Amino acid sequence: MITKKGILLICMIMFLGNVISAQTFKYIGADKCKLCHNKPATGDQYAKWLKDPHSQAIKTLSSQASLDYAKKNGIADPAKEAKCLKCHSTFDRADAKIRGTILASEGVSCETCHGPGSSYKSPAIMKNQAMAKTLGMIVPDKALCLECHNKDNPFFKEFNYEAYSAKIAHPNPAAKK
Ligand code: HEC
Ligand code: HEC
Ligand code: HEC
Ligand code: HEC
Repeated sequence: MITKKGILLICMIMFLGNVISAQTFKYIGADKCKLCHNKPATGDQYAKWLKDPHSQAIKTLSSQASLDYAKKNGIADPAKEAKCLKCHSTFDRADAKIRGTILASEGVSCETCHGPGSSYKSPAIMKNQAMAKTLGMIVPDKALCLECHNKDNPFFKEFNYEAYSAKIAHPNPAAKK
């Protein structure tokens, strides 16, 4: 015997399921993450990322090394070349439909590693990792790094996950782990 309450509950679950599956997660850009992740007490991830080469990855495509490589390999402008942008720019990696408010100038941005933030961006959701994951948050791992840290990169250096993670670490000292 299904009670009225039971039917209501089933309807609610079906409705929520639809909302979640019909939803496409969009990029919101590092400026939005900065609103909360810029506090020294919780690790100021934004300032750490600004010092991290990932935030400079777009500028790198206009560096002398990039221009020299482009000249030798018949590339007109590496900063406009899809073959380079696919690893140096979160904006260009994203399908145009889900670019949201992310800027092309952000390089390899927060949301490359943590997932497009439109649906998980509220603190209540982010405090609950399981929920955040159903709403688009990615917990970064080695496989994710290897999407770009591989030999398709003309400037490839041997990738060591532990050493490389330590170089870009931005932990929250206040987080209970
Ligand atoms: C309105 C404030 C706010 C905004 C905007 C925000 N965050 Fe958060 N975020 C939080 C809070 C609060 C936590 C929980 C901190 C804790 O308890 O460790 C958190 C936690 C996280 C975590 C850790 C989650 C886990 O379980 O490992 C990541 C990663 C994260 N945020 C990334 C982002 C990214 C990327 C953006 C931008 C797309 C963003 N946040 C935008 C407030 C915010
Ligand atoms: C979307 C592609 C992409 C992903 C994913 C990515 N990286 Fe990178 N990474 C880059 C690019 C591009 C650079 C070079 C930035 C520059 O100097 O312009 C870089 C540079 C670095 C550097 C600096 C290396 C040096 O020579 O000082 C470290 C450290 C690093 N990445 C660690 C990581 C780790 C750890 C992960 C996974 C958690 C990761 N990266 C994921 C693209 C990526
Ligand atoms: C498969 C992903 C990928 C592609 C494709 C890619 N890059 Fe990179 N690039 C990276 C990563 C990752 C790094 C950081 C390597 C490291 O330090 O370990 C990097 C570093 C660089 C550097 C810095 C080298 C240094 O040590 O200072 C330059 C310059 C560069 N890339 C230019 C380009 C150009 C130009 C193109 C297109 C012709 C390109 N990249 C294509 C991923 C890529
Ligand atoms: C190149 C990939 C990469 C980029 C770019 C990146 N992160 Fe992270 N982030 C990581 C990794 C890896 C971890 C550690 C995950 C774990 O706990 O194992 C992490 C952890 C975090 C945490 C959790 C810290 C903790 O100790 O609980 C927060 C919050 C966070 N990142 C926010 C950001 C924000 C905001 C930005 C942009 C300003 C950003 N990240 C850019 C890879 C990245």
